[in-house]
Amino acid sequence: MTEQTGIHGLWRSRWLFILAATGSAVGLGNIWKFPYITGENGGGAFVLVYLVCIALIGIPVMIAEVTLGRMGRQSPINTMQALVKDQGAHKMWSGIGWMGAVAGFFILSFYSVIAGWALAYIFRMGGGVFDGATAESAGEVFGGLIGDPEGLLAWHTIFLVITIAIVARGVNKGLEKAISVLMPLLFLILVVLLGYSMSSESFGAGFHFLFDVDFSKLTGESIVVALGHAFFTLSLGMGAIMAYGAYMPKGASIGKTVLTVAFLDTLIALVAGLVIFPIVFANGMEPSAGPGLLFQTLPVAFANMPGGTLFGTLFFVLVSFAALSSAISLGEPVVAWAVEKRGVSRANAATWIGIITWVLGIGTVLSFNLWSEYKLFGKTFFDTLDFLTANIMLPLGGLLIALFVGWSMRESDFQAEAGLPPMLFKALRFVLMFIAPAGVLFIFANGLGLV
Ligand code: PHE
Repeated sequence: MTEQTGIHGLWRSRWLFILAATGSAVGLGNIWKFPYITGENGGGAFVLVYLVCIALIGIPVMIAEVTLGRMGRQSPINTMQALVKDQGAHKMWSGIGWMGAVAGFFILSFYSVIAGWALAYIFRMGGGVFDGATAESAGEVFGGLIGDPEGLLAWHTIFLVITIAIVARGVNKGLEKAISVLMPLLFLILVVLLGYSMSSESFGAGFHFLFDVDFSKLTGESIVVALGHAFFTLSLGMGAIMAYGAYMPKGASIGKTVLTVAFLDTLIALVAGLVIFPIVFANGMEPSAGPGLLFQTLPVAFANMPGGTLFGTLFFVLVSFAALSSAISLGEPVVAWAVEKRGVSRANAATWIGIITWVLGIGTVLSFNLWSEYKLFGKTFFDTLDFLTANIMLPLGGLLIALFVGWSMRESDFQAEAGLPPMLFKALRFVLMFIAPAGVLFIFANGLGLV
């Protein structure tokens, strides 16, 4: 279709694409969100549904997204528009790119606020605030943090400025290098923490909570949340992975690459769960503590560990970087679009997007303090935004991508780009045509109480 490389540059190798896509996938979703929603939704059965969603829906949709991106070599919005034209499909399909861009805005606005908590914790940890921490004192420190709107706004601002500055520089400069060092380091420190939690007496309790399946704990909404999280954690359904696919070198195998990314992402989420739940049970905390879970549990572990202050500080540095490499991919689709379409400079496009996102983020900042009592259907502004994006917009985006590839594209064009072994390709097509759409629709209907 378009030129081989596009105007935004290319990852220098398949390995760098894996790093970048893993950088996008692994973030607050794995370390912060997965444990707390697992806690809120009763543990094992929820985890099982989540894993099934990853395997049956997430991975196929990810292959589709990367392939579409590499075919189009442009921002998701323009890629979708070009493909729709090229395939003679109905114009409506280009809505996939637009809806994704809006979802990206929404997600980045609250993502940046939560990443701000991680930034704040670098200094709380490093400053010794958690020395000798107990579940109670850690809870108080966390309560103090989120109860202070000015503080949260400041951290949100700092995080967003850093994100925008990196997006403004483009994909090759800085981003690749930073990710290739920081991701392995994050994994390493999680393994150290895993060692700590394995030596705790409550490791068994945490393990059973995560892996013992009791379906009576599942509600229709839990299943919707599990599906939504499968999309959120793999960065699917909004164009982030499509945008990164556009920068993927031609010869690299899409199937293997996607499997690697999905495997690493799932591994990190499960390890985070195995770290956090034993601490929860050892200290008499509640698994269903909500968004504060990570921030209230880990300080207790660090306080009881030799070298804990150092490890703890380093841990929150790495979480901040993991969040950063995801945040960048949330901003990239819209920025790339503005650069292509409007001919504005990357720096300008990124700045404008930053400003709008910043304003929207104030709603999330206030959800934890001044506005915490204002609720719509029992949800704060933050809860609403999170629910709307992760549980509705992303699965819907994924559903449309599956339908577009499965039903509306010429099979041979898709296969020419995806380059999968014939049997696998047949299986993938079947899943994209029937299984993934049926799965998403069934889970939506179930969540609405229709089936
Ligand atoms: N996957 C990221 C995480 O788990 C969040 C994200 C969602 C990033 C959607 C890009 C697109 O933290």
